[in-house]
Amino acid sequence: MVKLAVLVSGSGTNLQAIIRAIQQKKLIAEIVAVVSDRKNAYALQRAANAGISHYYIPKGETQMQQMNEKLLGVDYIVLAGFLSILSDEFCQQWANRMINIHPSLLPKYGGKGMYGMKVHEAVIANKEEETGATVHWVTAVIDGGNTIVQKSCAVTSEDTPKTVAEKVHEIEHEILITALKKITE
Ligand code: GRF
Repeated sequence: MVKLAVLVSGSGTNLQAIIRAIQQKKLIAEIVAVVSDRKNAYALQRAANAGISHYYIPKGETQMQQMNEKLLGVDYIVLAGFLSILSDEFCQQWANRMINIHPSLLPKYGGKGMYGMKVHEAVIANKEEETGATVHWVTAVIDGGNTIVQKSCAVTSEDTPKTVAEKVHEIEHEILITALKKITE
């Protein structure tokens, strides 16, 4: 059984999508650990509700080392809204075994500082006609790894950053499972 770890910082709706897909047997895998760098991340509550081991590991000198102690035996790491910048060493160690979900059509609207609502605000400000989400392999270059799955949606003049965020979140939950099936099966 493929063992997954999910690194989170926020509400955990992407984590919940993985939990749901496993429960519905749409994805054959096991989440063995959820790690957050935010003590009050609701994603930790979602892990607890699902009976999944979960840990709060704060940013700092020993953050990566402490995370690795909880990741023994893990096959793939999923970054699902994880906001800490990973060290080059950690990225090297987990090369080709770590994926990230990003709320834009990379390489557009990616890179340092481009996350969450900032992405959707920029898409609206630039009057883009489409946006979407991307699942990609993680390398030391932020949002720079090869794309695994990408899906787009239309952006209309009626859209706001909030309505775009809602559309993109739907896409994220779908393509994250598609990507995990692709790499684990
Ligand atoms: C998502 O928008 C994802 O694309 C980004 O962080 C957000 C995480 O949302 N990387 P959630 O915590 O999974 O709801």
